[in-house]
Amino acid sequence: MTGIGELVTNDPGAADLLGLRHDAALLVERGRVAWVGPAESAPAADLRVDLGGRAVLPGFVDSHSHLVHAGDRAAEFEARMAGRPYAAGGIRTTVAATRAATDEQLTATVARLVAEMRRQGTTTLETKSGYGLTVRDEARSLAVARQFTEETTYLGAHVVPAELADDPAAYVDLVTGPMLEAAAPHARWIDVFCETGAFDADQARAVLAAGAAVGLRGRLHANQLGPGPGVLLAAELGLGAVDHCTYLTDADVDALRETGTVATLLPGVEFSTRQPYPDARRLLDAGVRVALASDCNPGSSFTSSMAFCIALAVREMGLTAAEAVHAATAVGAAALDRDDVGRLTVGARADLVVLDAPSHVHLAYRPGVPLVQAVWVGGRQVV
Ligand code: NIG
Ligand code: FE
Repeated sequence: MTGIGELVTNDPGAADLLGLRHDAALLVERGRVAWVGPAESAPAADLRVDLGGRAVLPGFVDSHSHLVHAGDRAAEFEARMAGRPYAAGGIRTTVAATRAATDEQLTATVARLVAEMRRQGTTTLETKSGYGLTVRDEARSLAVARQFTEETTYLGAHVVPAELADDPAAYVDLVTGPMLEAAAPHARWIDVFCETGAFDADQARAVLAAGAAVGLRGRLHANQLGPGPGVLLAAELGLGAVDHCTYLTDADVDALRETGTVATLLPGVEFSTRQPYPDARRLLDAGVRVALASDCNPGSSFTSSMAFCIALAVREMGLTAAEAVHAATAVGAAALDRDDVGRLTVGARADLVVLDAPSHVHLAYRPGVPLVQAVWVGGRQVV
């Protein structure tokens, strides 16, 4: 590829955060980046693509989504816009619809949303179960998800389902016992919604320990609806990432810095629930690693657009466009413990986005505009 007006490499050795190169070229061989340098010294290649001065960046890494679901909760969104507060209890509405859906219906929904993400430049995505909450429905949710990504997460501990509302301990036993056994073959990660009204720190600890015992890596939904113990638990357990982080104390921020745990911020949630946006500036200034992800789900954030999250992070959360793009690519990859994606340096997977724009800043400067002109995954053009 040649004629790249601005290339975001995310080279960690570069002087600037994004490792920007101008008037650049990039050589792809066997699905990987084989060479990066000035356009005038581009090596010969079988196929040459001239990008006409456009910007190229690593494909977005969306490290948090809930694509396996059925049903529609637009009415809840409308009620919130009219002043009603967000209620996590709405999760049970989606649980009922998901249980009633066929495997084919769930697969079709995930396929549609993955295609939607692709068109908008997401080339790596994580997605979760969590709207099944029975052994059968969690296992089939993950089996569906696995058809689309290796980054699948078992979230049996999303909420206690209505049928066990009176006996949460029995539900935790199910989540850590037969449900885990059925889910584990289809999952890489295990997650818990650690929040008042969902699961407390002891329950979260038990679920993550059971997952670790069968080889699942932990992540957490924490400090979304109010201050709570989740972020400190993530740091204590040395988790790679903890997600939401909307309400943080100074001790939470210190713990994240000390452990290097990535704080994954999900501004689509605050957009859709009207809660305050997380203070990304405070986190970066304190030396915490910040990722951005969509949290695409029918309740709290039904966007699949990483560009929208970048625009919100710049407009509402105090990030520069460069910091937001870095958070949506390189740090998203770190949140998934991946070093083969999220950067365009030699050896990385050739997953990249071509923007119909001269620079990454346009992602925030031109919100709502479909700037993605082409998407390549593993060196193959898919959009
Ligand atoms: O990440 N926080 C918990 N779960 C999901 C959304 C739940 C829903 O409302 O369906 C989230 O926001
Ligand atoms: Fe979530």
